[in-house]
Amino acid sequence: MTQNASKNRSWPWTVEPDREWIAALVAKHSVTQYRLPISATMRAAIEPALVRLRDEHRSGHSLILDAGCGTGASTVSLAQCYCDAFVVGVDRSAVRLRKSPPLPPNTLLVRARLEEFWLMVHQSDIVFDRTLLLYPNPYPKRCHIGRRWYGHPILPTILATARLIELRTNLEWYAADWAFALEQCGWQWQCRLLPNSDVLSPFERKYVEHGYQRWIVIAYQ
Ligand SMILES: C[S@@+](CC[C@H](N)C(=O)[O-])C[C@H]1O[C@@H](n2cnc3c(N)ncnc32)[C@H](O)[C@@H]1O
Repeated sequence: MTQNASKNRSWPWTVEPDREWIAALVAKHSVTQYRLPISATMRAAIEPALVRLRDEHRSGHSLILDAGCGTGASTVSLAQCYCDAFVVGVDRSAVRLRKSPPLPPNTLLVRARLEEFWLMVHQSDIVFDRTLLLYPNPYPKRCHIGRRWYGHPILPTILATARLIELRTNLEWYAADWAFALEQCGWQWQCRLLPNSDVLSPFERKYVEHGYQRWIVIAYQ
């Protein structure tokens, strides 16, 4: 489905009160500055990554962010797909990152909270050519809508640090809500089902093996 198509029909999976809520959250966050104290531990984890990102950018490499990379399997696949790019994978889970496969030289894994990472990236004027949000935590309870990336105050910073964002999810409503939120921010998007052949990690392969449908939303300014 494309953005124009969405304007000609109502989303069949939309819960209207959620849409109003999402629109209100997006509007509020677009005019407020998200402030978060960044701990010394987080700074120590993130600063070396920023230095490397600047160096790679200066050397002419495009920059890709795998946000919430889990074990880093998708980060490695991306580094292989985009071998001229530099790919940074960020995840808060040390347990997952410890299970990472061997990393190619154009890859870096960082253990950090994404909120702090995105804020520091923005303060450093770094912009990713491609940001991937692969199967973000959906926080399915309605009362947790503000924890989903589209309802979170970090959303403007996510957008300010990305030229193009690719979201993948097995939840149709999440794809639709994400596209809706980005549209409120003036972004264009396209959404489609992913073919079974398009798999970046063993995590995605499990979805395919269990017969789940997967959606991809590609968004850009
Ligand atoms: C459902 S898993 C998806 C993992 C991976 N993207 C994949 O496709 O295999 C979500 C991941 O996001 C990470 N995550 C969630 N919120 C995060 C945050 N605020 N900062 C950093 N990582 C986060 C979790 O630790 C987890 O590894």
